[in-house]
Amino acid sequence: MKLKNKVVVITGASSGIGKELAFQFARKGSKVVLAARNAAALEEIAAQIWKTGQAALAVPTDVTQRFQVDRLMQAASAEFGGVDILISNAGVSHATGTAMETKEVDIRATMEVNYMGGVFGVWAAVPLMEKRGGGQIVFVTSIVGKRGVARNAAYCASKFAAQGFAESLRPELSRKNIRVTTICPPGVDTPFFANNGRADVRKFRLHPVQKIARLIVKACEQEKREALLTMDAKLLHWSNVFFPKIVDWAIAKNKEV
Ligand SMILES: NC(=O)c1ccc[n+]([C@@H]2O[C@H](COP(=O)([O-])OP(=O)(O)OC[C@H]3O[C@@H](n4cnc5c(N)ncnc54)[C@H](OP(=O)(O)O)[C@@H]3O)[C@@H](O)[C@H]2O)c1
Repeated sequence: MKLKNKVVVITGASSGIGKELAFQFARKGSKVVLAARNAAALEEIAAQIWKTGQAALAVPTDVTQRFQVDRLMQAASAEFGGVDILISNAGVSHATGTAMETKEVDIRATMEVNYMGGVFGVWAAVPLMEKRGGGQIVFVTSIVGKRGVARNAAYCASKFAAQGFAESLRPELSRKNIRVTTICPPGVDTPFFANNGRADVRKFRLHPVQKIARLIVKACEQEKREALLTMDAKLLHWSNVFFPKIVDWAIAKNKEV
């Protein structure tokens, strides 16, 4: 996929990975459409992109509201003539705790954003991609959407849900020339942990956001099926494929999770 002049809609673009992706796609010559709830943050990012001579549009959107996601895609289409790439990246987590301690309200809220938000994006974007003769849908899930970890059940479950949806979608959309890519990042140094009541996470374990965004952009260009991005994510995934009981034991032993 050549990114120059492509219309790229990014959800969760007001912060962290989504914000960095907006700058990096713009640098590649893409026209970026920025979605999240924080309108002021989106406007500021769009203004910075315009200053570099690239095009950006800020569309305040709550991805849990289907009509707002529909409106987002319509706005992208009205401004730039269509949608080529959807980066379904908006995400939340919940305060750490065992599965037994996790509140129903947190489980539902996490599913609404991390899973239903992605579903609404697909429903709204696919008809526009079909009109262009193809496109790409990228789900930013997580490595814990491939292997569950302790004290994070609702978040892991929401990411497994997004992974499963994407896997079902992939063969269905291949006939329409729409590629589906799943991105499974490891820990990334963004405001995510502070935003979600987990400011205790040790920073040295986290990857720089610029590096992760660069790897995501590369995975889009290469139209990868799935990208685990880094060595630690690959190690967790493949250890779990071949030695799941050892991974169970290591997670149970780890007092930090
Ligand atoms: N950081 C990590 O270690 C890590 C690891 C693996 C996967 N991920 C995933 O990567 C994605 C981006 O996370 P991040 O690290 O960049 O976190 P972040 O800095 O907290 O950004 C999360 C983004 O999601 C948006 N968002 C949350 N609820 C939303 C809603 N209802 N509607 C629209 N947008 C909403 C936020 O914007 P508003 O608040 O303005 O709406 C923000 O732009 C998430 O899906 C996360 O699960 C992160």
